[in-house]
Amino acid sequence: MRLDDDALLARARAARGRAYAPYSGYPVGAVLESTDGSLFEGCNVENASSPVTLCAERGALSAAVAAGHRSFRRLALSTEGVEAVAPCGACRQALTEFAPDLEIVSEAGGDVRRWTLDVLLPVRFVLRDHRRPAAAPSEDEEIG
Ligand code: THU
Repeated sequence: MRLDDDALLARARAARGRAYAPYSGYPVGAVLESTDGSLFEGCNVENASSPVTLCAERGALSAAVAAGHRSFRRLALSTEGVEAVAPCGACRQALTEFAPDLEIVSEAGGDVRRWTLDVLLPVRFVLRDHRRPAAAPSEDEEIG
């Protein structure tokens, strides 16, 4: 089963209603849809120590992965304001680990915008082999 975007945004709006955002006053709600149609909600959870704050998208991702899901097709976001926003850079990197082509639909007020994650994050960080120097000199090679 696949809900339409409006129904998914309604779920994100409900999650936004549960956000804990006393410091910024900017509640965010997210719903992450797995490829089998399962839905996982998240909201931002702020903290007196601001870097500890958790974004709504990564809250939803954590709930989904903890429930055994690793394949996702759509993310719905709901915020306040007049212009729909895209996920922050950290959340883009977190989401691309599992769904580089994720569809994203975002609403604020009456404004609705859509992107795919590969457009928002065309080049992601990938952990390469970091234990070996790229061009190690051979043992008998003179250095300097
Ligand atoms: N926030 C999110 O939940 N998702 C984003 O993609 C960007 C920002 C939250 C974090 C913080 O609680 C508030 O929005 C203002 O930055």
